[in-house]
Amino acid sequence: MHGIPAELCFHMKTMKKTIGTIKILTVYILCGLISPLNAFSLRNCTVVTSQDDVQPKVLCYKMGFFKVPSYIPTNAMVFDISSNAFSQIKIGDFKDLSNLRYLNISNNKISWIEDGALDSLSNLTHLNLASNKLNRISNGLLYGLANLLELRLDVNDINNIEESAFINLQNLKVLNLTKNTLRRIERVMPVLAALRLEELYIGSNHFDVFNSYEISKKPLSLTRLDISNNPLTTFGLTENIFPTLNHLDLSNCGQNGSVVWNITEKSYFSSVKTLYFMDVHMSLQSVSAVLKIFKGTLNKIRLNRNVKFNMEPLLPNACSPMLRVLRLIGNGMTNLTEHMFKPCSNLTELDLGENEISHLSPTILRTFTQLKILLLQINKLTQITNTFQTLSTLEFVDLSINKIAKLDCNDFGNLTHLKVLYLYGNKISKISSCHFRDLKSLEVLKLGTNDLLRISDAFINGPHSLKKLQLSFNKLSVIETDTFRNLSQLNSLETQDNQISQIKPFAFRGLKNLRYLSLSSNKISAKTFRGSNVFSGMPNLQNLDLYSNSISFTENKLKNPPFAELKQLKIIAIHSQRRGIGNMPSNLLQGLSNLEMFSGGNMNLLHLNACTFQFSPKLWFLDLSKNALSDDNAIPAELFHPISMLTKLILSRTQLRSLNFLLDANLSRLSTLKAPGNEIDAVNKTLIQSFHNLKVLDLQKNTFTCDCNNAFFIDWAVKDNFTQVIYLNKYACSYPSTLRGMKLSDFNTESCIMNIDFICFLCSSIVVVITLLFAFSWQFLRLQVVYAYYLLLAYLYDSKKKHQQEFMYDAFISYNKQDEPWVVEKLIPELEGKQGWRLCLHHRDFEPGKPIMDNIIDGIYSSRKTICLITRNYLKSNWCSSEVQVASFRLFDEQKDVLILVFLEDIPSHQLSPYHRMRKLVKKQTYLRWPKDGEDSRVFWQKLRMALETKEVLCGL
Ligand SMILES: *[C@@H]1O[C@H](CO)[C@@H](O)[C@H](O)[C@H]1NC(C)=O
Ligand SMILES: *[C@@H]1O[C@H](CO)[C@@H](O)[C@H](O)[C@H]1NC(C)=O
Ligand SMILES: *[C@@H]1O[C@H](CO)[C@@H](O)[C@H](O)[C@H]1NC(C)=O
Ligand SMILES: *[C@@H]1O[C@H](CO)[C@@H](O)[C@H](O)[C@H]1NC(C)=O
Repeated sequence: MHGIPAELCFHMKTMKKTIGTIKILTVYILCGLISPLNAFSLRNCTVVTSQDDVQPKVLCYKMGFFKVPSYIPTNAMVFDISSNAFSQIKIGDFKDLSNLRYLNISNNKISWIEDGALDSLSNLTHLNLASNKLNRISNGLLYGLANLLELRLDVNDINNIEESAFINLQNLKVLNLTKNTLRRIERVMPVLAALRLEELYIGSNHFDVFNSYEISKKPLSLTRLDISNNPLTTFGLTENIFPTLNHLDLSNCGQNGSVVWNITEKSYFSSVKTLYFMDVHMSLQSVSAVLKIFKGTLNKIRLNRNVKFNMEPLLPNACSPMLRVLRLIGNGMTNLTEHMFKPCSNLTELDLGENEISHLSPTILRTFTQLKILLLQINKLTQITNTFQTLSTLEFVDLSINKIAKLDCNDFGNLTHLKVLYLYGNKISKISSCHFRDLKSLEVLKLGTNDLLRISDAFINGPHSLKKLQLSFNKLSVIETDTFRNLSQLNSLETQDNQISQIKPFAFRGLKNLRYLSLSSNKISAKTFRGSNVFSGMPNLQNLDLYSNSISFTENKLKNPPFAELKQLKIIAIHSQRRGIGNMPSNLLQGLSNLEMFSGGNMNLLHLNACTFQFSPKLWFLDLSKNALSDDNAIPAELFHPISMLTKLILSRTQLRSLNFLLDANLSRLSTLKAPGNEIDAVNKTLIQSFHNLKVLDLQKNTFTCDCNNAFFIDWAVKDNFTQVIYLNKYACSYPSTLRGMKLSDFNTESCIMNIDFICFLCSSIVVVITLLFAFSWQFLRLQVVYAYYLLLAYLYDSKKKHQQEFMYDAFISYNKQDEPWVVEKLIPELEGKQGWRLCLHHRDFEPGKPIMDNIIDGIYSSRKTICLITRNYLKSNWCSSEVQVASFRLFDEQKDVLILVFLEDIPSHQLSPYHRMRKLVKKQTYLRWPKDGEDSRVFWQKLRMALETKEVLCGL
């Protein structure tokens, strides 16, 4: 009996678990439906607070809300619940939000807003109701919004605005009613009750007649009016209602043919300076007539996408000495004629983008004397020889996305005022030092997406004033020594997306003012850094991109730490190395004493050296996402000791199983910790308490355990109002399996606190009672106590093995030693030999050394059936009757037909009487009788075969 205490202990554990599960389940059923109300870790919303701003932004867009969430902090200033699914707004939905300034409810399905529902938002200045299903604006809808400045009602179904709907909006400046279904312009009249309205957008409605007298007789304060995309047939301006109108959009008007213009006084439009007249559906005469109305007053005109018209005859009416900006984008223009721009000679900006221009002769542009901006992007120019000869006033030329293959030395010869030159998206394969030599004022040069192979002497003559140079998406492979030595003003150098594998020593020498260098997406490897002075000569570099290269190391310590001279570097991005970084040398960052941000994600990093950041004490941002840091010591706590300024730590998808490595990291300044997509199951209480400054914790997509061991974290995540555990309501329990999928925040932690006391009380009481009972029973009912113990074992065993469906044997044979000859001679040959069953026999199959009771239990439970061979001897034997006990317990417990009783002797039922249990069984179970000598045994074997074959039938005991 010496094995029992240990066994008992094991079984007690099993029982505790089972009971624990039942308890949690009950708690869940009782309390799970009542979600804890929390003020800070908002369900499905994020609160964004900037450092000096106490009033937070609450962002709840794209979250599948069917109604306005009710737990928004009352000091919220910005509230974004766009792109959800609610269809109405009722009084009370926004109560207590009187501090709100910006409210975005666009992209929902709102068709009804109860009058007064917005009245609580008395300080609101910006309201966005765009892309909903509103069809009218009632008098009461906006009444309370006296401070509103900007209102968006575009993309709704509004066809009616009630008379006094805007009467109280005396501060409204901007109203957008684009894309609604208003038909008559008089429907717009109510909005003009907002007397300070400046910008009115009523494009894309169904207006066919615009008559000024239908909306107002008095002058309005509008400065901008958009009536584009309406099927206008008549436009009448018979009163001077737009004395301050500056900007008018008449694009895409008159889809139904011609428009009748009845403007009784030309001066009614004399304040208009900007006209959009794009994609117009009118005859050439009508267009000319309209342009004449505005001629002489306009500064800017857009005549884009009027493919139908030849522009040349229009320009005399569009241009005047006043006109400064002319846009002719997307007009399908191929060849420009010599005199076409004569009427427009005072332009400062000409936009000819997205046309088909393949040649631009200098004579066409000669007419301009003060042109500053010339935009020729997306055309078909192949060369630009002499094009700009006469345009010495130019400051910005856009030649991007053309077909220029070759530059001539004099192409930009006299553009001494040029500041910005875009040449990206061409086919230039070679540039040399003469090309940009004369551009004495050039500050921005974009040469990306060309076919450049070499740039070694391209910049040896400057341009000296260059601040930004873009060389990305070319075919550079080497950066030679001193390539940039005369670009001392350069601030930003973009060489990403080339094929650079070699950087010669002092390649960047002379870049005294360079702040940003991008070398990402190249073929840089550790070999590139092997020489010294690779990054020499850029003493002010602050930001270096090296991501998406092939940098990988094997050594623990580098001979020439490559960044040693970048004393001012603040940001380095080295993430996503193609073949993984291998081993990160402990002195890789040597010299970066001002480093603040390190991005080292996605580089197959398996562990970090504790000294990695010893050189960069100012580091506050560290991103190690998407590495495989699952090893226990992959991130040593000492790693963080030199970087006590760390405030933001990102560990997304790093295969972490716990955050406990941060326990000794002393991250008292950490304010953001993101570790989504890991395998973290619990967060340690001490760890949480060690964060004194944590404001944002993101642990989405982890595998949380919902039990009392994690109760502190769960409780804290829900209730703490300093740290926002973002998207807490999406965290689900992964364990225990009974709670899988349940929301972490729904786990009731109060039961844990209560239960510890209760369980203690219960345990001690039970121990006392059991001790008393045991003592008593032992004294008087010794035998029964032994049975009861076996019964308990069987029960416990059963709860352990409950779900085992695979059986090792077909039948366990329970018999007395004295009946062994029968078993060996008759039973085994028939059942195992002829019928092919697998039997469990104790003389053969019991494990030696294992306590006999355990053997019995194991045997019975790993067999489908138990066959008891009953004789008088069997009934007398102790072990045998315990076998019956166990088997009948299993019978009771599993409600299965597991017991087969075979009487080898005739035992009259009165002789069974002392064997109480057996008698009961015999009464309820069918039993077989071994035929007397001389009788045929075939029927018996047939019956036994059938009994063994019976599948599990509920026997209803
Ligand atoms: C949270 O958002 C998800 C979709 O992202 C949605 O299915 C769920 O219903 C939302 N929960 C609440 C409380 O609105
Ligand atoms: C909201 O506006 C009211 C007056 O309309 C003003 O008294 C109150 O101070 C404003 N609240 C805030 C937070 O500005
Ligand atoms: C007005 O609404 C249209 C259509 O949604 C949108 O494209 C435009 O940007 C809006 N303009 C302003 C100023 O809100
Ligand atoms: C222009 O409008 C005025 C005032 O409504 C009207 O008297 C006049 O007949 C209109 N003229 C044309 C040509 O429609």
